[in-house]
Amino acid sequence: MPWKRRPFTSRRLRRALNIADLRDIARRRVPGFVFEYVESGAEDEATVTRNRAALEELRLVPQTLVDTSARHLGTTILGRPASAPLVIAPTGLNGLLHFEGDVVLARAAAQLGIPYTLSTVSTTRLEEVASRAGGRLWMQLYVVKERAIGREIMQRAAAAGYEALVFTTDANVFGNREWDQRGYRAPGKPTVRASLDALRHPRWMWEVLLRHGMPRFRNLEPFVPANLTPMGASTVIPRLFDATICWNDIGWIREHWQGKLLLKGVLSVADAERAAALGVDGIVVSNHGGRQLDHCVAGVEMLPEIKAAVGTRLAVLIDGGFRRGNDVVKALALGAEAVLLGRATLYGLIAGGAPGVERALGILTTEIDRVLGQLGCNSVAELAPRHLRPARAAASVPGI
Ligand SMILES: Cc1cc2nc3c(=O)[nH]c(=O)nc-3n(C[C@H](O)[C@H](O)[C@H](O)COP(=O)(O)O)c2cc1C
Repeated sequence: MPWKRRPFTSRRLRRALNIADLRDIARRRVPGFVFEYVESGAEDEATVTRNRAALEELRLVPQTLVDTSARHLGTTILGRPASAPLVIAPTGLNGLLHFEGDVVLARAAAQLGIPYTLSTVSTTRLEEVASRAGGRLWMQLYVVKERAIGREIMQRAAAAGYEALVFTTDANVFGNREWDQRGYRAPGKPTVRASLDALRHPRWMWEVLLRHGMPRFRNLEPFVPANLTPMGASTVIPRLFDATICWNDIGWIREHWQGKLLLKGVLSVADAERAAALGVDGIVVSNHGGRQLDHCVAGVEMLPEIKAAVGTRLAVLIDGGFRRGNDVVKALALGAEAVLLGRATLYGLIAGGAPGVERALGILTTEIDRVLGQLGCNSVAELAPRHLRPARAAASVPGI
C-alpha cells in the first residue's frame, strides 16, 4: 500500500513551517470571498501559474567546501542599508484581512529593517502608517481620473517622510479577476452565499467589519463617495483608474515628487530602457502577481535581459510568486537588488496578525540564510548567475 502523507491541518502559527502552511491557516480564518481577493489572478490564472513555474524551472548550483560561518543577509536597497533583500509589496485593502493590516505589515517591516510599501488604495491613511509604524516607507501611486488625488498623495507622502514613490504602471486597465468577482452580486454587494460564509467566520466579522467599522479607502477620502467600500475591489476600483496615463506623465510625477522614484510593472527591455533614459531611480519587474494581464511573461523570465540592459543605470527589483527563500536567492543571482513580497506576507497577516507577519518574514529570512550557506555564500552580494542553471538546460536535464 502506498504511504500517504497527512496534510498540514494545524491552526497554530508556531506549527507553520513554511509560507504554504501559513496560507493553509489563512484560508480557514477568513470567508472564501476575502481569501479569493488575495489569491485570485486574472482570468485563467495562467500568469499566476507561470510566476511559480518560471522560478521552479531554475536550478541552483552550489559551491562546496566553503566556510560560510560569517553569513549575513545585509544588503543595500535604493542606496540605503537593509537587513535583508526584501521589501513588502503594496497591497490594497489590507484592512479587509486584518483591522490594522497596513500598520501591522509596516511595523513588521520596520522591525526587520526592510522597506514597506503602502498602497494608494490602503485602508489606513498614509500619515497614520508613518506615525504608528516608522521605518523605511515607500508610497505606491495609482493615478486615478481625478488628477488632484495623485498630486495630493505625492505631497502628503513627502510631508510624512516617505522615502520613495512606487508608480504602478500596469493597472490602468484593470485586470479581469473573475474569481474575485464571483463573490459579489453588484459592486460592493456580496452574494447571499458569500454573506452566509461571512456569518460562519464570526471572529473576522467582529474584528474587521463591526468592532472598528467597515474598512474604507482612507487615502482617497474625501475624493471618493462615502458609500464606496472596499468590499469587492475588482468591481469597485476599475471605476477610479485613469487609462490615459502614459510616459509623458513621468514628468508630471517628477514635478510633484522629489524623492526616489520606482516604476512597478516593467516587463520589457524597451520599457526598462525608457525608464532609465528618463532618470527613474528603479524599476520593479512585475506582472502584478498575475492579477492584471493573463498569459503574461513572468518577471523572472525577463530579469536577465532587463538587468543586462539597464542594471548599471537604475535599481532592478522584482516580484511575483516568491514563496521560498530559494526563490528569492534565484532572483538575486539573476541580478535583482531585492524582492517584493505580496501574498507571502499577507498569508501571515491573515493567519495571525502581527505574529503572523513576523512568522512569514522569519520563515523567509531563515530560508534565504540556509540556502546561502548551502550554496557556499556568506552574503547576498556573492550571488551570481553561476549559481543557477539556465531554465532551459535545467528543464532538459533528465529526471527534472
Ligand atoms: C491582495 C493584493 C492586493 C494588491 N494591491 C496592489 C496595489 O494596491 N498596488 C499595487 O501596485 N500592487 C498591488 N498588488 C500587487 C503586489 O504589489 C505584487 O506585485 C504582487 O502581489 C506580487 O506577487 P505575489 O503576490 O505572488 O508575491 C496586490 C497584490 C495582492 C495579492
